[in-house]
Amino acid sequence: MKITDDILYVGVNDHDVDLFEGQFEVPLGMAYNSYVVKGREVAVMDGVDARFADEWLKNIAVATDRVDYLVVQHMEPDHSASIAAFAAAYPAAKIVSSMPAFGMMKNYFGTDFADRRVVVKEGDTLDLGTAKADSSDGTCVPHVLTFVGASMVHWPEVIVTYDTASKTLFSADGFGKFGALDREDPEGWDCEARRYYFGIVGKFGAQVQTLLKKAATLDIARICPLHGPIHDTPEMIAHVVKQYLTWSAYGVETEGVFVAYTSVYGHTKAAVEKFCEILKAKGCPKVACADLAREDMYESIEDGFRYGKLVLATTTYNTGVFPKMEEYINHLKRRLYKNRKIGFIENGTWAPMAAKGMQKLLEGLENLSFCESVVTLKGSMKDETVSALEKLADEILA
Ligand SMILES: Cc1cc2nc3c(=O)[nH]c(=O)nc-3n(C[C@H](O)[C@H](O)[C@H](O)COP(=O)(O)O)c2cc1C
Repeated sequence: MKITDDILYVGVNDHDVDLFEGQFEVPLGMAYNSYVVKGREVAVMDGVDARFADEWLKNIAVATDRVDYLVVQHMEPDHSASIAAFAAAYPAAKIVSSMPAFGMMKNYFGTDFADRRVVVKEGDTLDLGTAKADSSDGTCVPHVLTFVGASMVHWPEVIVTYDTASKTLFSADGFGKFGALDREDPEGWDCEARRYYFGIVGKFGAQVQTLLKKAATLDIARICPLHGPIHDTPEMIAHVVKQYLTWSAYGVETEGVFVAYTSVYGHTKAAVEKFCEILKAKGCPKVACADLAREDMYESIEDGFRYGKLVLATTTYNTGVFPKMEEYINHLKRRLYKNRKIGFIENGTWAPMAAKGMQKLLEGLENLSFCESVVTLKGSMKDETVSALEKLADEILA
């Protein structure tokens, strides 16, 4: 697939993966993107998952009859596991990557390719020269790849790469999403990109902000990530950057309330349904709700970060918090959840303790505020429960 005269797509689509990174459901499959950049010399940008090494090497061979470099921006095996196959197929090609990445290569392949490695760091460049195709507009701008450090977005060795000639940012895992490229995503970019961001990168907001500041100094015509579609219109580039600015700052993307609940016998669920009705009746701009035991946990994690207000409803479980709720809160904690207003609904047949338990689990996180009203059910919903839900709704919406 041609991206520009000199940049070709050589990635692959994966519809066989059961769980991406061992835990994420990917109903639309997954793409492992890889690109060929053609100057006088030719660089391949990253590899693919081991299961697709042969297909990738065939794609490269179709795209170019010479390869001088493999640029390894990220060592996670969904991209890097095919490095050894590449090294065998192109014995004269150099491997270009950061110092920490070569350490990881030794860990994976038993070699750091010492005789053919080019170690790069922030600000270093690799001049590929000018391909013939460049002269089509008479400018003949050489493809100079500039490397930009992106440590901990989301592994320590990560670099991203800017090509001056085409104004392309090769963004490693940044701006990526779940989903193969041969399947249209009916929800557009945002949903699966948000689930990807908060599932995988969420903890590293500060590092993403640092990278976005560096990217702001570049004139970007195109973003080529390692997963998901290429962003090549000014509108799409502005949109994905805006979303990343909000997400990495733990900002509120959508005004509204997300209600996350668990319920063993349905009474807490009934209270949650009533609560959502009350919120809507009071004019809440958006009410989202999820059963943590039955819906994809990572959908709930992204919604926890998407909305500015969160209500957690659960049952007391052996004097503590129901396990799926505890798991959810721990997921939020691991991703440094912050800047949110939180309310609690609890159920307990003889000694309700879930609200206190949930608040304790959230201790230590920055800038969380808690509603004073806690709704407590002892079994089923009563008239006084409805009044308490009304009060909590007023407080969370205030
Ligand atoms: C395994 C188990 C342990 C429970 N432990 C407690 C407890 O320690 N204290 C309490 O008050 N209720 C306890 N309960 C009752 C629940 O908190 C809750 O009242 C009940 O599940 C009703 O809510 P639901 O219909 O939404 O499931 C327990 C229930 C189960 C199934």
